[in-house]
Amino acid sequence: MIKFNFHSYVDSLIKKEDYNELMKQKEEVFSKFKKSKMTGWTKRISDDLVNKIIDTSEKIRENSDCLVVVGIGGSFLGSYAFSNMFKSYFLDDSFEVIYAGTTLSSKYMSELLKYLENKNFTLNVISKSGTTMETTLTYSLIKNLMLDKYSDEEIKKRIILTTDKEKGSLREEVLEKGYESFEIPDDIGGRYSFLTAAHLLPLSMNFNIKRIVEGYYEGAKLMEEAFEYAAIRNALFKKGKYVENFCVYEENIYYFTEWLKQLFGESEGKEGKGILPTSNVHTRDLHSLGQFIQDGNKIIFETFIKVNRSNKVMCNLGNLHEVNNVVLDSVVRAHFSGGVPCNIIELESINEEDVATLIYFFQLAAAYSGYLMGIEPFDQPGVEVYKKEVREGLNK
Ligand code: PA5
Repeated sequence: MIKFNFHSYVDSLIKKEDYNELMKQKEEVFSKFKKSKMTGWTKRISDDLVNKIIDTSEKIRENSDCLVVVGIGGSFLGSYAFSNMFKSYFLDDSFEVIYAGTTLSSKYMSELLKYLENKNFTLNVISKSGTTMETTLTYSLIKNLMLDKYSDEEIKKRIILTTDKEKGSLREEVLEKGYESFEIPDDIGGRYSFLTAAHLLPLSMNFNIKRIVEGYYEGAKLMEEAFEYAAIRNALFKKGKYVENFCVYEENIYYFTEWLKQLFGESEGKEGKGILPTSNVHTRDLHSLGQFIQDGNKIIFETFIKVNRSNKVMCNLGNLHEVNNVVLDSVVRAHFSGGVPCNIIELESINEEDVATLIYFFQLAAAYSGYLMGIEPFDQPGVEVYKKEVREGLNK
């Protein structure tokens, strides 16, 4: 169960006419969205695919101590953010899923390769294009280790490539070597690919993905709420609120805000436009950025993710989680009094279904918000510029 409050701590800080004007564009935006060729993520995933993913996860569990997932950006953040939200801080007994390919740190790589020497592992490389440098480089290093460790026949059981159905070097390798593979459909871009094998396979190692799938499609019922949020964001933008600070009150939700940053940053940051997404983990960051937000340059608005129920710990001030939420409510009032508009999104608890619903909701909101801003939300030409420069830089 998810509740939204986009008005109590916002309305007096935006222009009503701006908001009404934006709300009038709803049908036009819905129609643009419907016509887009990149909304494959709204279509139902097939049961056959879900079952194939579950079967594959069972095989991995049988022959491996861990799964190594290589990918970056939209081919990484969804499953990483989701699984982190459920991770135990100290008593982690989940199947080990290791992520690589998001850094060129030689320290990380040398330690990872050393760590894997004595492990039996499966490798899942995820790249829609099949050409991303960080991913292909990491893949080649880990594959070299596998060539030393395993026979060709064994490698064939241990490499899974998730990529475009026809194009790219990973697909060529699937055809040549007969590796197990999954597709990232043509009509789904990286940051909108949560409900594809790119994320469901890593998640299937520790989650019941059928629950995730069911929860995800509940998000389709939140079109109105997603549009309202998109309109509020744009009305705030028109008032000079150029930064959206996502605030969470649980350290392990931090990577969900990283996913949000990519989703909104890559969807909206184009043609000199866009709201800069950033994030805080409270109460920690109240003692660093809190001063700026309360009292500094008024370019910020905030979106709080509030969780009603969590572990029960009694302390001198009562139930610790309730204390955390009293602080959240107080911070909203304090920041609002300092001229900082605040949205609140409230979850009853952190559970697979609701988090998946929230993912669909935010994907809708990012797309609608982009259309309201007059940009195309599903491409990322800026990322391509950097990738091209790197290719040229490395060829010098
Ligand atoms: O959202 C996006 O499209 C990007 O962030 C990509 O996911 C990222 O650049 C990785 O691309 P690829 O999956 O082609 O390796």
